[in-house]
Amino acid sequence: MSILDKIDLKGQRRSKLSGKTFEQLREIIYRETGIYFQDNKRYLLESRVSRRLKALSIDTFEEYASSLQNGRRSREIGCLINAITINETSFFRHQSQFDVLVDHLVPALVKERGESATLRLWSAASSTGEEAYSLAILYVERLKPRFPKLRVEIVATDIDTNVLEEAKDGRYNGYATRNIPPAWLRKHFTPEGKHHRLNDDIRKMVRFKQVNLSDRTSMLRMRSFDIIFCANVLIYFDDESKKQVISSLYNSLATGGYLFVGFSESLYGVTQAFHAVRLDKTIAYQKV
Ligand SMILES: C[S@@+](CC[C@H](N)C(=O)[O-])C[C@H]1O[C@@H](n2cnc3c(N)ncnc32)[C@H](O)[C@@H]1O
Repeated sequence: MSILDKIDLKGQRRSKLSGKTFEQLREIIYRETGIYFQDNKRYLLESRVSRRLKALSIDTFEEYASSLQNGRRSREIGCLINAITINETSFFRHQSQFDVLVDHLVPALVKERGESATLRLWSAASSTGEEAYSLAILYVERLKPRFPKLRVEIVATDIDTNVLEEAKDGRYNGYATRNIPPAWLRKHFTPEGKHHRLNDDIRKMVRFKQVNLSDRTSMLRMRSFDIIFCANVLIYFDDESKKQVISSLYNSLATGGYLFVGFSESLYGVTQAFHAVRLDKTIAYQKV
Protein backbone atom coordinates (compact mmCIF):
# COMPACT_ATOMS: atom_id res chain seq x y z
CA MET A 1 0.00 0.00 0.00
CA SER A 2 1.40 3.40 -0.99
CA ILE A 3 1.55 6.44 1.24
CA LEU A 4 -1.26 7.84 -0.88
CA ASP A 5 -3.55 4.88 -0.10
CA LYS A 6 -2.95 5.21 3.64
CA ILE A 7 -3.79 8.84 3.61
CA ASP A 8 -6.83 8.28 1.36
CA LEU A 9 -8.19 5.76 3.85
CA LYS A 10 -8.05 8.40 6.54
CA GLY A 11 -10.14 10.60 4.26
CA GLN A 12 -7.36 13.16 3.75
CA ARG A 13 -5.93 14.37 0.48
CA ARG A 14 -2.20 13.92 0.18
CA SER A 15 -1.70 16.35 -2.68
CA LYS A 16 -3.82 19.19 -3.99
CA LEU A 17 -3.83 20.35 -7.58
CA SER A 18 -2.50 23.90 -7.48
CA GLY A 19 -3.67 26.52 -9.97
CA LYS A 20 -0.32 26.48 -11.73
CA THR A 21 -0.20 22.68 -12.14
CA PHE A 22 -3.85 22.65 -13.21
CA GLU A 23 -2.93 25.03 -16.02
CA GLN A 24 0.07 22.89 -17.02
CA LEU A 25 -2.01 19.71 -17.17
CA ARG A 26 -4.87 21.49 -18.90
CA GLU A 27 -2.48 22.75 -21.57
CA ILE A 28 -1.01 19.28 -22.17
CA ILE A 29 -4.46 17.67 -22.39
CA TYR A 30 -5.73 20.40 -24.69
CA ARG A 31 -2.74 20.07 -27.01
CA GLU A 32 -3.08 16.29 -27.20
CA THR A 33 -6.88 15.94 -27.42
CA GLY A 34 -8.69 19.25 -27.96
CA ILE A 35 -10.46 18.66 -24.61
CA TYR A 36 -10.48 21.89 -22.61
CA PHE A 37 -10.98 21.83 -18.85
CA GLN A 38 -12.73 25.06 -17.85
CA ASP A 39 -11.64 26.63 -14.55
CA ASN A 40 -14.70 25.19 -12.80
CA LYS A 41 -13.60 21.66 -13.79
CA ARG A 42 -10.39 21.80 -11.73
CA TYR A 43 -11.66 19.40 -9.08
CA LEU A 44 -12.87 16.97 -11.70
CA LEU A 45 -9.40 16.97 -13.25
CA GLU A 46 -7.82 16.61 -9.81
CA SER A 47 -9.88 13.54 -9.01
CA ARG A 48 -9.26 11.95 -12.43
CA VAL A 49 -5.50 12.56 -12.39
CA SER A 50 -5.17 11.40 -8.80
CA ARG A 51 -5.84 7.87 -10.14
CA ARG A 52 -2.64 8.14 -12.17
CA LEU A 53 -0.69 9.37 -9.13
CA LYS A 54 -1.92 6.37 -7.21
CA ALA A 55 -1.13 3.92 -10.03
CA LEU A 56 2.40 5.32 -10.36
CA SER A 57 2.97 5.83 -6.61
CA ILE A 58 3.68 9.50 -7.23
CA ASP A 59 2.96 11.78 -4.29
CA THR A 60 2.30 15.17 -5.87
CA PHE A 61 0.64 16.59 -8.96
CA GLU A 62 3.75 18.72 -9.55
CA GLU A 63 5.90 15.60 -9.78
CA TYR A 64 3.38 13.99 -12.12
CA ALA A 65 3.20 17.06 -14.39
CA SER A 66 6.96 17.21 -14.67
CA SER A 67 7.14 13.46 -15.41
CA LEU A 68 4.96 14.18 -18.45
CA GLN A 69 7.60 16.56 -19.75
CA ASN A 70 10.38 13.99 -19.73
CA GLY A 71 10.99 10.59 -21.36
CA ARG A 72 8.02 8.77 -19.77
CA ARG A 73 5.69 11.25 -21.39
CA SER A 74 4.59 9.45 -24.53
CA ARG A 75 3.45 6.27 -22.75
CA GLU A 76 1.96 8.07 -19.79
CA ILE A 77 0.12 10.57 -21.94
CA GLY A 78 -2.09 7.75 -23.24
CA CYS A 79 -2.85 6.67 -19.65
CA LEU A 80 -3.61 10.27 -18.72
CA ILE A 81 -6.05 10.56 -21.63
CA ASN A 82 -7.75 7.30 -20.65
CA ALA A 83 -8.10 8.63 -17.09
CA ILE A 84 -9.67 11.98 -18.00
CA THR A 85 -12.20 11.05 -20.70
CA ILE A 86 -15.91 10.90 -19.85
CA ASN A 87 -17.29 7.74 -21.44
CA GLU A 88 -21.01 7.89 -20.67
CA THR A 89 -23.07 6.15 -23.38
CA SER A 90 -25.79 3.54 -23.93
CA PHE A 91 -27.59 1.64 -26.69
CA PHE A 92 -30.08 3.69 -28.74
CA ARG A 93 -29.19 6.79 -26.73
CA HIS A 94 -30.96 9.25 -29.05
CA GLN A 95 -33.73 7.08 -30.47
CA SER A 96 -35.09 9.76 -32.81
CA GLN A 97 -31.74 10.01 -34.63
CA PHE A 98 -31.83 6.28 -35.33
CA ASP A 99 -35.44 6.57 -36.54
CA VAL A 100 -34.52 9.41 -38.89
CA LEU A 101 -31.60 7.37 -40.17
CA VAL A 102 -33.78 4.32 -40.93
CA ASP A 103 -36.91 6.11 -42.15
CA HIS A 104 -35.42 8.98 -44.15
CA LEU A 105 -31.67 9.08 -44.66
CA VAL A 106 -30.89 5.52 -45.68
CA PRO A 107 -33.88 5.33 -48.08
CA ALA A 108 -32.69 8.61 -49.67
CA LEU A 109 -29.13 7.30 -49.99
CA VAL A 110 -30.35 3.99 -51.45
CA LYS A 111 -32.46 5.87 -53.99
CA GLU A 112 -29.42 7.86 -55.04
CA ARG A 113 -26.78 5.11 -54.95
CA GLY A 114 -28.79 2.03 -55.84
CA GLU A 115 -30.16 -0.94 -53.88
CA SER A 116 -26.83 -2.79 -53.88
CA ALA A 117 -24.91 0.14 -52.41
CA THR A 118 -22.49 -0.27 -49.52
CA LEU A 119 -23.02 2.45 -46.94
CA ARG A 120 -20.14 3.44 -44.69
CA LEU A 121 -21.13 4.38 -41.14
CA TRP A 122 -18.79 5.82 -38.52
CA SER A 123 -19.33 6.15 -34.80
CA ALA A 124 -16.66 8.77 -34.03
CA ALA A 125 -16.02 8.92 -30.26
CA SER A 126 -17.74 5.57 -29.81
CA SER A 127 -16.75 5.03 -26.18
CA THR A 128 -17.60 1.42 -25.25
CA GLY A 129 -19.33 0.71 -28.58
CA GLU A 130 -23.04 0.98 -27.81
CA GLU A 131 -23.72 3.53 -30.58
CA ALA A 132 -21.92 1.48 -33.24
CA TYR A 133 -23.57 -1.77 -32.16
CA SER A 134 -26.97 0.00 -32.16
CA LEU A 135 -26.32 0.74 -35.84
CA ALA A 136 -25.43 -2.90 -36.50
CA ILE A 137 -28.63 -4.10 -34.81
CA LEU A 138 -30.70 -1.56 -36.75
CA TYR A 139 -29.21 -2.78 -40.00
CA VAL A 140 -30.19 -6.38 -39.21
CA GLU A 141 -33.61 -5.57 -37.80
CA ARG A 142 -34.88 -2.64 -39.84
CA LEU A 143 -32.77 -2.06 -42.92
CA LYS A 144 -31.96 -5.50 -44.30
CA PRO A 145 -35.63 -6.62 -44.41
CA ARG A 146 -36.44 -3.53 -46.51
CA PHE A 147 -33.25 -3.37 -48.62
CA PRO A 148 -31.97 -6.97 -48.85
CA LYS A 149 -29.06 -6.10 -51.16
CA LEU A 150 -27.85 -3.15 -49.10
CA ARG A 151 -24.54 -3.62 -47.27
CA VAL A 152 -23.03 -1.59 -44.48
CA GLU A 153 -19.52 -1.10 -43.15
CA ILE A 154 -19.43 0.16 -39.57
CA VAL A 155 -16.32 1.73 -38.10
CA ALA A 156 -16.10 2.88 -34.48
CA THR A 157 -13.28 4.97 -33.09
CA ASP A 158 -12.28 6.62 -29.84
CA ILE A 159 -9.15 8.21 -28.39
CA ASP A 160 -9.41 6.11 -25.22
CA THR A 161 -7.82 2.67 -25.62
CA ASN A 162 -9.51 1.23 -22.50
CA VAL A 163 -13.01 1.83 -23.81
CA LEU A 164 -12.07 0.35 -27.18
CA GLU A 165 -11.00 -2.88 -25.46
CA GLU A 166 -14.30 -2.98 -23.55
CA ALA A 167 -16.19 -2.34 -26.79
CA LYS A 168 -14.53 -5.32 -28.50
CA ASP A 169 -15.46 -7.48 -25.52
CA GLY A 170 -19.15 -6.54 -26.01
CA ARG A 171 -20.30 -7.14 -22.42
CA TYR A 172 -22.86 -4.67 -21.08
CA ASN A 173 -24.71 -3.94 -17.86
CA GLY A 174 -28.40 -3.18 -17.45
CA TYR A 175 -27.88 0.58 -17.62
CA ALA A 176 -26.29 0.33 -21.07
CA THR A 177 -28.93 -2.03 -22.45
CA ARG A 178 -32.01 -0.40 -20.88
CA ASN A 179 -33.32 1.10 -24.16
CA ILE A 180 -32.98 -2.06 -26.25
CA PRO A 181 -36.38 -3.55 -27.15
CA PRO A 182 -36.69 -6.81 -25.14
CA ALA A 183 -37.08 -8.98 -28.26
CA TRP A 184 -33.82 -7.62 -29.71
CA LEU A 185 -32.05 -8.04 -26.39
CA ARG A 186 -33.07 -11.72 -26.30
CA LYS A 187 -32.13 -12.24 -29.93
CA HIS A 188 -28.75 -10.50 -30.10
CA PHE A 189 -27.34 -10.95 -26.57
CA THR A 190 -26.55 -13.81 -24.24
CA PRO A 191 -27.10 -13.26 -20.50
CA GLU A 192 -23.94 -13.51 -18.38
CA GLY A 193 -24.83 -13.02 -14.72
CA LYS A 194 -25.91 -9.40 -14.34
CA HIS A 195 -24.58 -8.57 -17.80
CA HIS A 196 -25.47 -9.27 -21.41
CA ARG A 197 -22.87 -10.25 -23.98
CA LEU A 198 -23.45 -9.26 -27.58
CA ASN A 199 -23.54 -12.21 -29.95
CA ASP A 200 -20.66 -12.67 -32.39
CA ASP A 201 -22.58 -11.95 -35.60
CA ILE A 202 -23.32 -8.37 -34.45
CA ARG A 203 -19.92 -7.92 -32.82
CA LYS A 204 -18.16 -8.85 -36.05
CA MET A 205 -20.01 -6.15 -37.97
CA VAL A 206 -18.10 -3.35 -36.23
CA ARG A 207 -14.40 -2.53 -36.71
CA PHE A 208 -12.87 -0.60 -33.79
CA LYS A 209 -9.75 1.52 -33.92
CA GLN A 210 -8.13 4.37 -32.07
CA VAL A 211 -8.53 7.76 -33.72
CA ASN A 212 -7.98 11.14 -32.12
CA LEU A 213 -10.52 13.53 -33.62
CA SER A 214 -8.11 16.41 -33.04
CA ASP A 215 -5.28 14.78 -34.95
CA ARG A 216 -5.52 16.13 -38.48
CA THR A 217 -3.23 13.46 -39.94
CA SER A 218 -5.23 10.51 -38.56
CA MET A 219 -8.44 12.19 -39.62
CA LEU A 220 -7.22 12.44 -43.20
CA ARG A 221 -7.30 8.63 -43.35
CA MET A 222 -11.00 8.51 -42.47
CA ARG A 223 -12.64 8.97 -45.88
CA SER A 224 -15.91 8.54 -47.75
CA PHE A 225 -18.38 7.97 -44.94
CA ASP A 226 -22.10 8.23 -45.68
CA ILE A 227 -23.23 8.71 -42.08
CA ILE A 228 -21.14 9.92 -39.14
CA PHE A 229 -22.27 10.01 -35.53
CA CYS A 230 -20.09 12.35 -33.49
CA ALA A 231 -22.25 12.74 -30.43
CA ASN A 232 -21.60 14.05 -26.94
CA VAL A 233 -17.95 14.83 -27.43
CA LEU A 234 -17.95 18.34 -28.94
CA ILE A 235 -19.10 19.62 -25.52
CA TYR A 236 -15.61 18.87 -24.16
CA PHE A 237 -13.82 20.95 -26.81
CA ASP A 238 -13.30 24.70 -26.97
CA ASP A 239 -14.50 26.67 -30.02
CA GLU A 240 -11.23 26.34 -31.87
CA SER A 241 -10.90 22.56 -31.55
CA LYS A 242 -14.62 22.15 -32.27
CA LYS A 243 -14.14 24.01 -35.56
CA GLN A 244 -11.13 21.92 -36.46
CA VAL A 245 -12.85 18.60 -35.66
CA ILE A 246 -16.00 19.57 -37.57
CA SER A 247 -13.96 20.60 -40.57
CA SER A 248 -12.15 17.22 -40.51
CA LEU A 249 -15.49 15.38 -40.23
CA TYR A 250 -16.81 17.38 -43.18
CA ASN A 251 -13.86 16.15 -45.23
CA SER A 252 -14.49 12.58 -44.05
CA LEU A 253 -18.04 12.60 -45.42
CA ALA A 254 -18.92 11.57 -48.95
CA THR A 255 -20.92 14.20 -50.81
CA GLY A 256 -24.56 13.79 -49.81
CA GLY A 257 -23.54 12.16 -46.50
CA TYR A 258 -24.88 13.16 -43.07
CA LEU A 259 -23.43 14.06 -39.69
CA PHE A 260 -25.26 13.68 -36.38
CA VAL A 261 -24.09 15.44 -33.23
CA GLY A 262 -25.47 15.07 -29.68
CA PHE A 263 -28.85 16.49 -28.68
CA SER A 264 -27.25 19.19 -26.55
CA GLU A 265 -24.76 20.04 -29.31
CA SER A 266 -25.12 22.17 -32.42
CA LEU A 267 -23.03 23.43 -35.31
CA TYR A 268 -24.47 26.92 -34.87
CA GLY A 269 -21.54 29.34 -34.87
CA VAL A 270 -19.12 26.51 -35.71
CA THR A 271 -19.56 26.14 -39.46
CA GLN A 272 -21.93 27.00 -42.29
CA ALA A 273 -20.59 24.31 -44.58
CA PHE A 274 -23.44 21.87 -43.92
CA HIS A 275 -27.08 21.94 -44.92
CA ALA A 276 -29.13 21.39 -41.73
CA VAL A 277 -31.91 18.89 -42.49
CA ARG A 278 -34.69 19.04 -39.88
CA LEU A 279 -36.67 15.82 -39.62
CA ASP A 280 -39.07 15.10 -36.76
CA LYS A 281 -37.26 16.45 -33.68
CA THR A 282 -33.83 15.81 -35.10
CA ILE A 283 -31.23 17.69 -37.10
CA ALA A 284 -28.92 15.88 -39.50
CA TYR A 285 -26.13 17.93 -41.08
CA GLN A 286 -25.71 17.12 -44.76
CA LYS A 287 -22.63 17.68 -46.89
CA VAL A 288 -24.10 18.97 -50.14
C1 LIG B 1 -19.56 10.91 -23.57
S1 LIG B 1 -18.76 9.78 -24.62
C2 LIG B 1 -19.91 9.74 -25.99
C3 LIG B 1 -20.11 8.35 -26.54
C4 LIG B 1 -21.14 8.26 -27.66
N1 LIG B 1 -20.74 9.01 -28.81
C5 LIG B 1 -22.52 8.71 -27.21
O1 LIG B 1 -22.98 9.78 -27.62
O2 LIG B 1 -23.16 8.01 -26.43
C6 LIG B 1 -17.42 10.78 -25.25
C7 LIG B 1 -16.29 9.97 -25.85
O3 LIG B 1 -15.45 10.85 -26.60
C8 LIG B 1 -14.14 10.37 -26.51
N2 LIG B 1 -13.19 11.45 -26.89
C9 LIG B 1 -12.87 12.56 -26.18
N3 LIG B 1 -11.96 13.29 -26.85
C10 LIG B 1 -11.72 12.64 -28.01
C11 LIG B 1 -10.87 12.89 -29.11
N4 LIG B 1 -10.09 13.98 -29.17
N5 LIG B 1 -10.84 11.99 -30.11
C12 LIG B 1 -11.62 10.90 -30.08
N6 LIG B 1 -12.44 10.59 -29.06
C13 LIG B 1 -12.50 11.46 -28.03
C14 LIG B 1 -14.02 9.92 -25.08
O4 LIG B 1 -12.97 9.01 -24.89
C15 LIG B 1 -15.40 9.30 -24.83
O5 LIG B 1 -15.38 7.92 -24.98
